[in-house]
Amino acid sequence: MTDSRDADATRLATDSLTQGDPTGWFERLYVAAADGTAVVPWDADEPNALLVDWLERHERANDGMRAIMVGCGLGRDAEHLGKLGFETTAFDVAETAIRTARERFPHSPVNYVVADLLEPPAEWTGAFDVVVESITVQSLPVSLRAVATANVARMVAPGGELVVIANIREEGAEVDGPPWPLTRSEIDAFAIDDLQPIRVEQVSPAGRPGFTRWRAVFQRA
Ligand SMILES: C[S@@+](CC[C@H](N)C(=O)[O-])C[C@H]1O[C@@H](n2cnc3c(N)ncnc32)[C@H](O)[C@@H]1O
Repeated sequence: MTDSRDADATRLATDSLTQGDPTGWFERLYVAAADGTAVVPWDADEPNALLVDWLERHERANDGMRAIMVGCGLGRDAEHLGKLGFETTAFDVAETAIRTARERFPHSPVNYVVADLLEPPAEWTGAFDVVVESITVQSLPVSLRAVATANVARMVAPGGELVVIANIREEGAEVDGPPWPLTRSEIDAFAIDDLQPIRVEQVSPAGRPGFTRWRAVFQRA
C-alpha cells in the first residue's frame, strides 16, 4: 500500500499480520474509522464502476435472483445489487463494517451478515445466482488464497454466475501485501468443478485508463 489513504490500513494490517492474524485488522480499521481516527481506503461514494458496467450488460432479469456480496465492507456495492432487484445477502468478517452498513442504509433490502469467507455457512453452498467478489480475496495473504477462492466458487448455484474484480499481478511477481493482487492462474482457479470461465478481461472503468483490473465472469453449468 502506498497511497496516503492507505496509511491507517497499512499500519493496522502490519500489526495484525505480524501477530499471525490475517483478518483482525479489518475490524480494528472499521472501529477506528467509526471513531473518526482512521480512513477506510476502499470506502467510496459510488459503487464499483466495473461491477455497475457488468450489471448493466447482464442479460438476465434480476428480480428474485439471489445475489451475494463477498467481503461487502460498508455496503456500497451490495446496495447497488439490492436496488437492481436482486435478493441480496452481503457479508463481512468485520462486525463493525456490518453494523456501519446497516446504519448507513437503514431502509436497505440487503441482508447484512457477519460471516467469514474462510468458514462460510454451509447453507450458502450452491445458493446464489450471482456471486460478487471484489478485491476481498486479494486482501487475504496468498497462503489463504486456495481456500478463499474455493469458498467463493462454491456459493454459485447451478446456472449461476460469479464475477471477480481484482488487481492484477504478473505470474511469479513478488508482492508485499496487502493487497496481494491476483495472477491469471489465480483467476483461472475460480473455475472449480463445473464453474466455467465465460469472459476473463483486463479492463479500465470509463475515464480511468490507468486503473486496469481483472474482471472475470464464470458460470456454473
Ligand atoms: C479490500 S476490502 C473490499 C471491500 C469491498 N468488497 C469493496 O470492494 O469495496 C476487503 C473486505 O473484505 C473483508 N474481509 C476480509 N477477509 C474476510 C473474510 N475472511 N471473510 C469475510 N470478509 C472478509 C474485510 O473486512 C473488508 O471489508
